[in-house]
Amino acid sequence: MKLRSATCQIAYWEGGKLQVANYLTRRTFSANPAALDVIGYFFTPRTIQDALVEFCAYSRESVAGVILQLIDAQLLLEYGSAEWARDELVQSSWKPWLPEGGFHFLTKDTPYVPWDWTVERKMKTLPATPAPPQFKTIRGADVVQLPPDENASDLFFKTLHARRTHREFAKGKVSLKNVTTLLQTTWGVQGYLHTNEFGPLPQKTSPSGGARHPGEVYLMALRVDGLERGLYHYQPKDNRLVRLRAKVSSRVASGYCADQLYFSGAAALFIMTAVFARTMWKYGRARAYRVVLLEAGHLCQTFCLTATRLGLAPFSTAALRDSLIEKDLGLDGITESVLYVAGVGLVPRGSGAALRAPGNSRHPAARRRADLLR
Ligand SMILES: Cc1cc2nc3c(=O)[nH]c(=O)nc-3n(C[C@H](O)[C@H](O)[C@H](O)COP(=O)(O)O)c2cc1C
Repeated sequence: MKLRSATCQIAYWEGGKLQVANYLTRRTFSANPAALDVIGYFFTPRTIQDALVEFCAYSRESVAGVILQLIDAQLLLEYGSAEWARDELVQSSWKPWLPEGGFHFLTKDTPYVPWDWTVERKMKTLPATPAPPQFKTIRGADVVQLPPDENASDLFFKTLHARRTHREFAKGKVSLKNVTTLLQTTWGVQGYLHTNEFGPLPQKTSPSGGARHPGEVYLMALRVDGLERGLYHYQPKDNRLVRLRAKVSSRVASGYCADQLYFSGAAALFIMTAVFARTMWKYGRARAYRVVLLEAGHLCQTFCLTATRLGLAPFSTAALRDSLIEKDLGLDGITESVLYVAGVGLVPRGSGAALRAPGNSRHPAARRRADLLR
């Protein structure tokens, strides 16, 4: 069996100890600097026997021990294995954005505070120091007091002011018409910009760096009147949904959202992913990874405002079980990866939530407290 060093590696010092991490698998190894020679040696595929000969100045036991530790930490991979193939895929598809792009993989599938912890217990996970001030002040500077905002009665501004994150939903279905409006308005193509250099570039309601539009969206329809329960890929070019095989349920929906139980009441989830190559192809610097994330924010705000205008109850969450979602969507999680989930349900009766005038939240105080711990 031949072994090869994982290419998805970074090394750093922590508390005076050298740490080597496989950022794809998120396994970290507290290494003796001498182990780096072994890692370096295995960048060409070799057998353990080869290494024992190469490092014959050391005892066989110590060399074999380091190799076993490196295998355990997934810093040495079996040449030709599935893990090796994933490592290769990161190299081939993310090359221009590495090593900085390792951040994307290092922050996937993070552990979450369990949903059933009490507010008091969650509070204990926060730093003991006071929260930083919410607003910045600049001492000693000249001040220009602005007049009060006069646009509050305009429907556009009313919609902006009425947007809130919802976590309670009425039981009914949302209409396919509204789901279509959400998809078309947020992810649909309004037209094309014809360019000599890049051919036709889609134009959407959200801006996109270089009009590359890396975002894709998948609909989990749970309670949509006129559409079978299921998982669908939205194809903006033809304004159509393509059904995927995965099973869906309210439980699966909250599972995707790191077990946040309130999202199991949603009528539909809109799972946002990015095809990184679209942006990377034009922007070969890792900074463009920021662009991909920023664009997901643009899309989500458009989604939330559209839902608000339709009188629906929107929400968004970045607390996701990335690998679970990617498996169900049939994604490798490398060339295309989940970034963000938005959703809608019906506004519960009597909540007064839809398009209400600007002002204070009407959530009961206890709910508000819990919300702040998201
Ligand atoms: C990127 C992002 C991630 C969020 N993740 C969660 C989440 O995991 N769960 C949740 O209940 N709310 C989540 N929220 C919603 C915030 O908690 C909410 O926006 C905030 O409390 C302010 O309330 P508002 O949206 O009603 O103005 C998220 C918001 C953003 C922008």
